[in-house]
Amino acid sequence: MSEIASKDYTVLVVEDDNAMREFITESLTDEGYAVLAAAGGREGVKQVRAHQVDLVVTDLRMPDMDGLDMVRELRTLHAPPDVITVTAFGTIDTAIKAMKLGAFDYITKPFEIEQLLISIERALRDRDLHQELSRLREAVADKYAFAKMIGHSPAIQEVFDLVRRLADSPVSVLVAGESGTGKELVARALHFNGNRSDGPFVPVNCAAIPANLLESELFGYKKGAFTDASQDRKGLLEEANGGTIFFDEVGELPLQLQAKLLRVLQEREVKPLGAPRSQPIDVRVISATNCDLQGMIEGETFRKDLFYRLNVVEIHIPPLRERGEDILPLATHLLEKATERANKPLGGISPEAARLLLGFNWPGNVRELENVMERAVALSRGSRIEAVDLPPALLERPSEDLVKAAATRQMTIAELEQSYILRVLAEEQGNKTRTAQRLGLDRKTLYRKLEEYRRDKDEG
Ligand SMILES: Nc1ncnc2c1ncn2[C@@H]1O[C@H](COP(=O)(O)OP(=O)(O)OP(=O)(O)O)[C@@H](O)[C@H]1O
Ligand SMILES: [Mg+2]
Repeated sequence: MSEIASKDYTVLVVEDDNAMREFITESLTDEGYAVLAAAGGREGVKQVRAHQVDLVVTDLRMPDMDGLDMVRELRTLHAPPDVITVTAFGTIDTAIKAMKLGAFDYITKPFEIEQLLISIERALRDRDLHQELSRLREAVADKYAFAKMIGHSPAIQEVFDLVRRLADSPVSVLVAGESGTGKELVARALHFNGNRSDGPFVPVNCAAIPANLLESELFGYKKGAFTDASQDRKGLLEEANGGTIFFDEVGELPLQLQAKLLRVLQEREVKPLGAPRSQPIDVRVISATNCDLQGMIEGETFRKDLFYRLNVVEIHIPPLRERGEDILPLATHLLEKATERANKPLGGISPEAARLLLGFNWPGNVRELENVMERAVALSRGSRIEAVDLPPALLERPSEDLVKAAATRQMTIAELEQSYILRVLAEEQGNKTRTAQRLGLDRKTLYRKLEEYRRDKDEG
């Protein structure tokens, strides 16, 4: 009848009335549960302490220790069993009190045994789900263990060392690095390896949330604070209470919100929009950026005082091209992850493919390497990743064939420059910031040149 495999569970029946206790015990045994019995609360508690009990079915009115006291006592145990109370019609109040203390359900006498069986099954299913979730949570914590953060280079080892030392500390940490270098991974490692790992980790992507929503998202609001506020809403800062808040792309935070955030960090309290007063919060702050915040301070788009609050310690993650030793260990690790996801076992990377991976300059860093491995796994027809499974950008050596083409076609320096700029722009999928970075140009110069090319084309 049930999806729950009843034999896996132990139920304790606590009831002072002999006939009733035997009736319930027999019914549950018939259903396949392992059943223990006790004639009173005190004995019940003793049984729970002595055995692995998943669920207690208990009468409420008993001579030695009543059901309510027993529930209270059970709640103090490390992993308390769920409780269902059985109660006479006149004592429903007590049954409700028991539920307030944490009992799962109550059944009123007289009852059909089916009713009790259904309630038991529901309680056990909830219990399983709960255990599954905490298991998953542990698995997630495990995912960010140091073992899963790969890196052999001294530079990345230094990052890991900082993470280890700062995990338990309450200080604000700014994680800086180019896009795709592993900033979020480091932020999570700080949280999940520290003494707040049982608390929430709340990421806030300052670039992804529209500026006009960011304030109410962060601070929350009271019903009626503005037209659309039809009910109270907790802000992300409050959600992070007892844990860590992670401000991703913190350079995108609008100036006006920077001032408000600064106040929160100074006062250690938040005031939801429309709330009469502030409430204290206890959050650890980790931020990440791929912007030059110092430069933004000079340009007056980032507040200096907030910068110093966020950046008590900075962890800088170097770009992948500056730590070539990490490319192959990472590639192997990411290949494993990709084969697992695609359910397509692959034996490794061919030497030729490895050489290409090592020769590339990885403007998109580890994230790009991850995408390359994912793509290679999808395309691969053999038992390992070959050079042909890698994207064209890695196969060509752009400088070589461009120079050859320039020589054959007798290009001018200006033409060669234009071809090279446009090629890099294409490789960067149109991202001008990254293109300028790779070319060693400032962004203004790049814009000016692109504008010239466009004009030439229109005129020509
Ligand atoms: N040292 C590492 N070991 C294993 N995986 C890594 C490492 N560094 C980065 N990764 C992986 O690379 C991907 C990108 O990392 P992450 O999202 O943390 O980077 P990011 O710096 O936050 O990027 P972005 O700037 O694009 O937001 C993730 O899938 C992450 O798991
Ligand atoms: Mg990120």
